Amino acid sequence: MCGIVGYIGNKKASLVVLEALKNVEYRGYDSAGIAVLNSSIQIIKDVGKLAEIEKKHNFSSLEGTIGMGHTRWATHGGVNSMNAHPHTDESGEICLVHNGIIENFQTLREKLQKAGCKFRSETDTELMAHLISLELKKAKDFKGAFLSALQKIEGSFSFVVMHKGEQKLYGARKSSPLIIGVGKNEMFFASDMPAVLSHTRDFVFLQENEAAEITKEGYEIYSLSGAKISRAPTHVDWTPQMAQKEGYAHFMIKEISEQQNSIRNVLATDVTSAAKLLKKSKYISIIACGTSYHAALLFKLRLANYGFRSDVVIGSEYSTPPGSLQAQVVDKNTVVVAISQSGETADTLSAVRFAKTKGARIIGITNVIGSSLSREADSCIYTGAGPEISVVATKSFTSQVAILYMLAAVCAGENINEIKEKIRDLSAVIEAVISKDKEINDISAELSKHEDFFFIGRGAAHPVAMEGALKLKEITYLHAEAYAAGELKHGPLSLLEEGIPVIVIAPQNAGNVFKIISSIKECNARGAFIVGISDSDAVLEECNLKFKMPDCPTLFEAIAYTIPLQLLAYHMAIKLDKDPDKPRNLAKSVTVE
Ligand code: M6R
Repeated sequence: MCGIVGYIGNKKASLVVLEALKNVEYRGYDSAGIAVLNSSIQIIKDVGKLAEIEKKHNFSSLEGTIGMGHTRWATHGGVNSMNAHPHTDESGEICLVHNGIIENFQTLREKLQKAGCKFRSETDTELMAHLISLELKKAKDFKGAFLSALQKIEGSFSFVVMHKGEQKLYGARKSSPLIIGVGKNEMFFASDMPAVLSHTRDFVFLQENEAAEITKEGYEIYSLSGAKISRAPTHVDWTPQMAQKEGYAHFMIKEISEQQNSIRNVLATDVTSAAKLLKKSKYISIIACGTSYHAALLFKLRLANYGFRSDVVIGSEYSTPPGSLQAQVVDKNTVVVAISQSGETADTLSAVRFAKTKGARIIGITNVIGSSLSREADSCIYTGAGPEISVVATKSFTSQVAILYMLAAVCAGENINEIKEKIRDLSAVIEAVISKDKEINDISAELSKHEDFFFIGRGAAHPVAMEGALKLKEITYLHAEAYAAGELKHGPLSLLEEGIPVIVIAPQNAGNVFKIISSIKECNARGAFIVGISDSDAVLEECNLKFKMPDCPTLFEAIAYTIPLQLLAYHMAIKLDKDPDKPRNLAKSVTVE
């Protein structure tokens, strides 16, 4: 939800932290700030994206080799510079950044105010600085004060904390990610790996209810009660370039363009142990949010194709009373497949934890090594798409779907080599679609004159239509809805007015081409403007604008047909002068429920 970073070493901390913050800015970008420790703690913070703040303030004026920074996605308190992080206690000697929500904020704030603390912001975060300061009066050292303050707060957090006079940074996490980057004579705290990949590829993943301290030379991990924990770093094969734009105008178009390669990474993935677990289940329950939810819907259809029954539930609805279906049916014979690019989505994790209390076993599908989902699952499959920086999911979705299809196929005893051959063919199809980007760009020129959009498809093309509509909404702020094509006549047709664009996703192998043609005719009769994405000439003849899809392995059509929709949303965002990487009000990783 927010991006946090800490640095201790020999370099100028403000510059290291600034660069690292730019790499996690996708986690939140309504305000940002940096604090550096020297003879005192100096802070620069303001409202806006980092690039805007940099124009107004000179971060490099902050001298020192110990620093921390934050990019905010507001929860408690409006978007203004007082609420921006870092926050300090009244003495200005304790300074911290925070990601998460302190749930007993109101009670604690009142207690602290009674004890004489003067608050300068409306945030829940600031109280932690005051709380540590009060604890420091009783504790024997700063670490003790930090730990006892942590024990008094409820909710989710990752913190990085500095204390004047100490050549150390402290950190802690609960239900919100925090990792340690291990360098040579320098150490880092960060919300996730892309923040500091240009400095190190060795990471220690803090686990639930753990705290840590870093010095230039090393790190120490302990439980919230202070017991030491030993953990070696993990070396990751992500490269710094993977987290850079590498000449592309935006991460989104870079990540769309990478898909012909990222999909091939799936070939190296072993799904056998997850498949064994899945086959043993009596009930398959699939959980996800947003784009991952669309991958889940495709997985359900594929499982059904092989004769396996499953349900898909949106993470936030999983245990919502009253009468949550899942509360009734999930038990020790259930296998949950939880899908999350980040592996940190609070709604998905909370559903997973609920299912665990019912005895269910968990298969996690995630893109982020060491993420909460990877640790909490009984069996984890990494999607291997590489870092995805743009807030909108693109390559992670296509990798998720490919992995899930492989998983379903292995469960059904299909020949995995044949599936892998089709993934190689799919990679060539993706390349062919991307090479026709100019055609999509031309279509986007026409469509960017409109404000409402229908996306329709049948069968597996329906979740693809949902994904296309979500992409468009997220980054153009235009209204788009997806429908199962056959459902139009049961209500949504009343919304159709002269000229409204209807984007039709219609692979002919999906069968029933005549049915999708009927849906097109229904829309045409009401004056809609039809955009066809299809390999069928019969479909395209009915359309005002056409994108002819290359031949594609039937199994993977859903993936191939998603690519033009990603490109369409991207080009429309550019034409409408919107930033596709950082859409308003959104953050890449939603770590609050
Ligand atoms: O990291 P996750 O896959 O769990 O994220 C779920 C959604 O928040 C995410 O897919 C969101 O919908 C994206 N912005 C979609 O582009």
